[in-house]
Amino acid sequence: MWDFFETIRHRHSVRHYRSDLPVSREQLHAILEVACTAPSAGDLQSYRIAVATTPAQRQALRAASGDQAFLTEAPVCLVFCTDGERAAARYGQRGADLYALQDATIAASYAQLAAVAAGLATTWVGEFDETQARAALDIPSSLRPIALIALGTAAETPQETPRRPLKDIMLGDGLTL
Ligand SMILES: Cc1cc2nc3c(=O)[nH]c(=O)nc-3n(C[C@H](O)[C@H](O)[C@H](O)COP(=O)(O)O)c2cc1C
Repeated sequence: MWDFFETIRHRHSVRHYRSDLPVSREQLHAILEVACTAPSAGDLQSYRIAVATTPAQRQALRAASGDQAFLTEAPVCLVFCTDGERAAARYGQRGADLYALQDATIAASYAQLAAVAAGLATTWVGEFDETQARAALDIPSSLRPIALIALGTAAETPQETPRRPLKDIMLGDGLTL
């Protein structure tokens, strides 16, 4: 087990996976439990998560995402969906448009980090056809799939990616770094 900062440092997008090494039910359960600890607007958790494990489901997600091949290498793909109606019931349009998206996004981020802490690898896939992804997993039309998270054991050592300097990110001059 890594501490939090090591986990953050070790998270890189992985685009080759060991197809022969499954994700255990225990690992998957632990990752999903962590995802659900994420903060959410009004504690409503306005998202749903579909789990693609069969070759047919993963092949359909690969096709939906412009043939990103690692989606069929990784044994699991988590599909995070917003539940706009759930957020709208309390927060109206802002809930549907913004809070549900933020809730689902934070939960997906937590899942990524939990996977790394469990010794697994992930890649966030945002480039996909929503209609095809919905069809792949029978996702109801009231939900919007917003992120695919490929999940499995890395078969490559990923490259470290650069980040913009903090000074380019920070707004204003209140913080001297
Ligand atoms: C919203 C979003 C969409 C992304 N879509 C894709 C994608 O479709 N395919 C892919 O290979 N990586 C995708 N990525 C992963 C990014 O390319 C990656 O996180 C970024 O290059 C930084 O690299 P790192 O994850 O290794 O730190 C996406 C990441 C985010 C947050």
